[in-house]
Amino acid sequence: MSSNRTTFATKLGVIAAAVGSAVGLGNIWRFPYEAGQNGGGAFLIVYLICVLLIGMPLIMAEFILGRHSKSNVGGTFKKLAPNTGWGVIGYMSVLASFLILGFYSVIAGWTLEYIYQAVTNGFSGLSAAELKTAFTEFSTDTYSPLIWLGLFLLANYFIIVGGVKNGIEKCSNIMMPLLFIILIVFCVRSIFLPGAEEGLRFLFQPDFTKINSNVILRAMGQAFFSLSLGMGCLITYGSYFSKETKLGKTAFTVSTLDTLVAILAGVMIFPAVFSFGISPSAGPDLVFITVPNVFQRMAGGYIWSILFFLLIAVAALTSTVSMFEVVTAFIHEEFNMSRRKATGWVVGVTAVFSVICSLSIGPWKDYTILGMTVFDLFDFVSANILLPVGGLLISLFVGFRLDKKTSYNEITDNGKLKCWYFNPLIFILKYLAPVAITLIFLSNFGVLG
Ligand code: PHE
Repeated sequence: MSSNRTTFATKLGVIAAAVGSAVGLGNIWRFPYEAGQNGGGAFLIVYLICVLLIGMPLIMAEFILGRHSKSNVGGTFKKLAPNTGWGVIGYMSVLASFLILGFYSVIAGWTLEYIYQAVTNGFSGLSAAELKTAFTEFSTDTYSPLIWLGLFLLANYFIIVGGVKNGIEKCSNIMMPLLFIILIVFCVRSIFLPGAEEGLRFLFQPDFTKINSNVILRAMGQAFFSLSLGMGCLITYGSYFSKETKLGKTAFTVSTLDTLVAILAGVMIFPAVFSFGISPSAGPDLVFITVPNVFQRMAGGYIWSILFFLLIAVAALTSTVSMFEVVTAFIHEEFNMSRRKATGWVVGVTAVFSVICSLSIGPWKDYTILGMTVFDLFDFVSANILLPVGGLLISLFVGFRLDKKTSYNEITDNGKLKCWYFNPLIFILKYLAPVAITLIFLSNFGVLG
């Protein structure tokens, strides 16, 4: 196991890297379409409750484990609970990483095509219906999505080989604040579209009759996905935190900013959805067919659209880099493989998964498993099952197995910082989060009727 691990260079670097992992396609692409399909405002409320009651405490739990063990996700449980079944969390994390990377990289590739279209003015003059057709033609094509996918994976390879400090940290520091600003500009434009109120009502006026066990499962899955939880990503990043990093503050900042970006994405997209007569439940295409419509109506739309898709691509990149880092650090440290070689393997396996995902949208769309394409299956299984199960196990581990004193020392920097929420946190990790996740599973998979 390597003993001289690097740490993030600056305080801003810590936050930016963790926010970089959390903020990504999950906020801008996945949140709006999940909310659109699962009840709008009602979804948002359940989502917020999940972030607050399960998400934030679990971020803390992962940070505690990572910084304490100074190890990758596999090594963490090997160190803290040698020769026990807890090691399974490491392997589940690897599986979840590959599944998510599989479909996520495809969408990230699409954002590159959209940068290209924006630069060459390909959206110009197209009606809402034509933009939709153009999108469908592109996304169901066999080869063009694969070219962009290949480019995207290559970029990941070079960043991961470059290591934590040079790659991840520098990228996030500049791009994340920029993304934030541009989202706000778009929200303002979207709100002034004709008919925008209906979109805002859809997002902010909850119709509680829409809440059912499926909506709750989806909202919980989205919270895990968006916060990068339940697959050792924040354990791995936590292991690069220095002694001075304040875990509580970092967890709070990450979850607040992540949630804010998701809401901003909603405010940007739903007014446009209603204004242009697109169905809010259009699914994974939603962002790609609404956003170009908004640009057409903006002064300077040409520049805005390039900037927007560029920033989304970078947000996706800082998220995939964090997933790659989970598996790369695991293989590099636990199996004594060089970092470069480990990265090569991980990117190679991801390439296979993501090519299958990409083709499952186009030429292979008739091959389904449980009624879902491979793409949808990977998305559903990872976000709604693997991440919550991972989170459940991590919660139980920190709640019951890890020495309480260890958690306390990590959170309070050995007693130096005040922490009013320590006992509630342990209570949530021991009982509330595990019970809630279990109940949501049981009611959804038919056991509780
Ligand atoms: N949170 C990322 C996003 O919202 C996706 C992600 C999931 C990253 C799991 C790491 C681990 O886009």
